[in-house]
Amino acid sequence: MRPSIVVSILSCLCLILTSAYFIFYQSDNNISQFSEKPDLINYDGEVISAKMGNATQKAELGRSTWKLLHTMAAQYPEKPSSEERKALYQFFKLLSRLYPCGECAAHFQLLLKQYPPQTSSRVAASQWACAIHNKVNERLGKEIFDCSNIEEKYNCGCDEEGEKESLSL
Ligand SMILES: Cc1cc2nc3c(=O)[nH]c(=O)nc-3n(C[C@H](O)[C@H](O)[C@H](O)COP(=O)(O)OP(=O)(O)OC[C@H]3O[C@@H](n4cnc5c(N)ncnc54)[C@H](O)[C@@H]3O)c2cc1C
Ligand SMILES: *[C@@H]1O[C@H](CO)[C@@H](O)[C@H](O)[C@H]1NC(C)=O
Ligand SMILES: *[C@@H]1O[C@H](CO)[C@@H](O)[C@H](O)[C@H]1NC(C)=O
Repeated sequence: MRPSIVVSILSCLCLILTSAYFIFYQSDNNISQFSEKPDLINYDGEVISAKMGNATQKAELGRSTWKLLHTMAAQYPEKPSSEERKALYQFFKLLSRLYPCGECAAHFQLLLKQYPPQTSSRVAASQWACAIHNKVNERLGKEIFDCSNIEEKYNCGCDEEGEKESLSL
């Protein structure tokens, strides 16, 4: 065989294998493809979600989400590490992009700019969450909640001793 034919065959083979890699391997790998690139996240980006027209669905989603947020704050560490503080801050920033009621998310982004998430302790986070919920209540013409009662309403629901170790799967 002439060398030029060998080179051609090898080139073709190379092309086919490269294509196969992109078609088969990458499409099987959707879950992990971004896992190594957390720095690509834009915490201050635009709202991602669409408008949620249905008022019933909007209210249901709101009630469930507030329950999640207040419970999360109630279980947040009393003395968080700086990494844990970043996690809570970024969670709220991303929530304001991804909350699946786009018009709510847009308002929430403005609120976060004015009242940045407080992350220094459990009390700070719980009081901040209560205050930001009241800001939304105010805009929607709802009753204002008394934040001095927040700890009675949302308990952390956690087993204090020895639970963290058993979390690693
Ligand atoms: C981030 C976010 C943004 C939203 N933006 C909009 C929006 O722009 N437009 C819109 O129509 N809806 C919005 N909602 C939904 C809205 O806030 C309500 O959840 C929804 O209208 C249902 O109201 P609700 O009266 O059942 O009580 P919710 O406000 O859902 O509250 C649920 C329960 O929490 C308790 N609670 C009330 N206030 C507080 C407080 N300050 N701290 C702790 N507990 C409290 C009360 O027991 C109340 O019954 C948003 C929800 C969230 C999570
Ligand atoms: C991966 O995502 C692409 C679209 O981005 C899709 O066509 C493909 O089916 C997905 N593969 C798997 C295994 O989910
Ligand atoms: C709004 O959402 C509720 C609850 O999901 C549903 O029962 C209702 O039919 C919806 N209304 C309209 C007008 O789509």
